[in-house]
Amino acid sequence: MKRIAVLTSGGDAPGMNAAIRAVVEQGAHHGIEVVGVNYGFKGLVEGNFRELTVAYCQDKIRRGGTFLYSARFPEFREKENQLKAIEQMKAKGIEALVAIGGDGTFTGALQLQKHGYPIIGIPGTIDNDIPGTEYTIGFDSAVNNALDEIDKISDTASSHNRTFVVEVMGRHAGDIAVWAGVATGADAIAIPEADFDMKDIVRRVHSGRANGKDHSMIILAEGVMGVDEFIHGFQKVDPGMSIRGITLAHVQRGGSPSARDRVFATLMGARAVDCLINGQAGLFMGVKGEQFATFDIIETLEKKSHAVRQDLYQLNQDLTNKAN
Ligand code: F6P
Repeated sequence: MKRIAVLTSGGDAPGMNAAIRAVVEQGAHHGIEVVGVNYGFKGLVEGNFRELTVAYCQDKIRRGGTFLYSARFPEFREKENQLKAIEQMKAKGIEALVAIGGDGTFTGALQLQKHGYPIIGIPGTIDNDIPGTEYTIGFDSAVNNALDEIDKISDTASSHNRTFVVEVMGRHAGDIAVWAGVATGADAIAIPEADFDMKDIVRRVHSGRANGKDHSMIILAEGVMGVDEFIHGFQKVDPGMSIRGITLAHVQRGGSPSARDRVFATLMGARAVDCLINGQAGLFMGVKGEQFATFDIIETLEKKSHAVRQDLYQLNQDLTNKAN
């Protein structure tokens, strides 16, 4: 193998740059030239390539976002665009593609694999919602970003004895909400993977206050509902509570990647190149039992679905289930 390409697609995630850098460095180490694709699958179809060097990628490991840029490109579902992408790569002598992104990116990549073009996937999304793997690059940084904000909100909530609802990202997954909720000692967590019961949430808030808490924190996953709708519902059950809401939105996705995201991004980027050198393709890199693991991309995406850590959600439920 002499020439491969790398792209990032879908929502950016902290650590994507670290993964690109590892692909480039590991490629250089084995005499493989790595070509960057600007703007994900959109750029692939358009032939928007750029040369990447070890020197250029050197400091990118600590930068958030993706320097290859990203795009949402639903048009890649069309077979015509998939074949055009393969044509563009073959015309440039590119023998395989490393695709970094979330479930949409993986769905696009597996189509290329089905057309017989070798791909390797690296999970990069703050949502942590790829089937099979326990962890996706960017999730740890996003949770830590959320913690920073929730800790600050707690200061003002405490000063005014208020209840705050903090809406976090995750699209249809509750992972950021669960981890941020447990890590901040939230009074309640609302996720799409659990039945929603506003009366129970209000009860938990009251129970905390009865036990002496001077403020309350509710972490709401965006996949459940928006923060305004939530507050409206809360006030129907308890009109007397002083309650405020905030949507953290894209601050969760920015900033320098955490150590965990940098380390796993580096490991996955290097192993992706190793797989291609060993003649393996149609795989994605991931984590199972806290260890690095590889997964068959077609089989995993077609047969499995993502599961939130129900044990952590339940832990928080148990901790906030005090009598009163
Ligand atoms: O997939 C990552 C994510 O940040 C989701 O958590 C969120 O729902 C979505 O992207 C937001 O997308 P956009 O940046 O296009 O508004």
